[in-house]
Amino acid sequence: MNSDVFPAVAAEAAERLAAYWRALAAAELPVVPPGAPGTTLKALPETAPEQGEELTEILNDTWSTIVPQLVHWQHPGFLGYYPTNNSPASVLAELVTAGLGVQGMMWSTSPAATELEQRVCDWLALALALPEHFTHASGHGGGVIQDSASSAVLVALVAALNRASDGRWRQHGTEGRHRVYCTDQANSCVPKAARVAGVGEPVLVPTLHGTLTMDPVALAQRIDADRAAGLVPAAVVATVGTTSTCAIDPIHEIGPVCRERGTWLHVDAAYAGSAALCPELRCGHDGLEHADSYAVNAHKWMRTGTPCDVLWVADRHALTDAMSAAPSYLRNRATDSGTVVDFKDWQIPLGRPMRALKLWYVLRAHGLEGLRTVIRHDVRLAELLAELVENEPGFHLVAHALGLVVFRRSSDEQTHELAARLADEPGLLCTPTTVDGRPALRAAVGSPYADEAGIRRAWGVIRAHAHAAC
Ligand SMILES: Cc1ncc(COP(=O)(O)O)c(C=O)c1O
Repeated sequence: MNSDVFPAVAAEAAERLAAYWRALAAAELPVVPPGAPGTTLKALPETAPEQGEELTEILNDTWSTIVPQLVHWQHPGFLGYYPTNNSPASVLAELVTAGLGVQGMMWSTSPAATELEQRVCDWLALALALPEHFTHASGHGGGVIQDSASSAVLVALVAALNRASDGRWRQHGTEGRHRVYCTDQANSCVPKAARVAGVGEPVLVPTLHGTLTMDPVALAQRIDADRAAGLVPAAVVATVGTTSTCAIDPIHEIGPVCRERGTWLHVDAAYAGSAALCPELRCGHDGLEHADSYAVNAHKWMRTGTPCDVLWVADRHALTDAMSAAPSYLRNRATDSGTVVDFKDWQIPLGRPMRALKLWYVLRAHGLEGLRTVIRHDVRLAELLAELVENEPGFHLVAHALGLVVFRRSSDEQTHELAARLADEPGLLCTPTTVDGRPALRAAVGSPYADEAGIRRAWGVIRAHAHAAC
């Protein structure tokens, strides 16, 4: 493999990506691929080639075989799930990161990778107006880039279990005594993390009627009852921006409940956390000073390609006491000096790519003001969509917050029928959910190419299917 060919093929890949992004912006592609299951498998040889092939040929095959069978997550008609958006700055940084090929598990394995990560996590903490103790500069806590909100929650639970057991958890596990609390609106990654951490299913705290947010009084009662029964309430996971309806748990009330009882509070702000870049959209910030950890997916709504979740902790030692591992083959002078951060002790994997570079590129290329403009733009488009839903006979607005609009038709049967029709619609992707036991559809605005015309086009498609159905 001759690295001399790299500049030309990299330039060709960049050209192709730029053309792809133009086609997305013009909505020239479907959102959802046409192929049946197995289409791509059939197109690929069953064994790897014995002899190396030209990179240009592989690039051609990417566009002829792979791209047509992708769901185009950056498409303006992609309204499903929450967005996973990116930007040229992020893509460029990923190329440079890959080319540099460093592995920054410890400060000593790439000092600049670690220190850049410390700095960008602090930048973001300040930009999001997080409590000062979440920054590295404070000397107390700090931020670390994880791959996902799921990993962030798992790491937080491990730290919580370690703290709640004074480290005994390391030898004895949870012995069935530790409890984790959340609501039934928490993302599925929360019960999964609780299972993986050995706690089993979390305790589901009731939600307040009509809001789908955690009832802090019920939480306090449940924790107190569990403690009285000899159990250990180790952690509460609250959500700022639930997946189903973007509901926001009242951190200002949950925080003191946790603080008074010594229970770890993790705040999952995977989606809505980015909105805190805009002062007027800091909807879940009150009480954050009580949180032990907080996580946001920069890869959802901050133009930073996936994966890029940032987890902050208020007390870095609470995390590293639980996560550190120091075999002799990782010993080095910098670690022994105790003056550096080794991010391997802030996450589950040992090795780690240099993900901070893409956040650095994005924050510098867009500037905080540029990212605020993106978020405000998407919020305005969601307002337009919510208005269109509200003004349409036979449609009901179920929830609307930030970039998310949740709606249903008059009867559950009609909603199911609309969902089924939209599932076959190539030009649009919405996702289903259940709210208060009834079906609904979610539309989340967040494509880099979202604009008013695209939202009106998407709404036209939804309306047309609804009318064709009834
Ligand atoms: C509130 C919330 N938490 C966690 C997650 C899971 O995120 P990840 O895929 O980064 O694990 C999501 C995904 O949409 C989410 O909406």
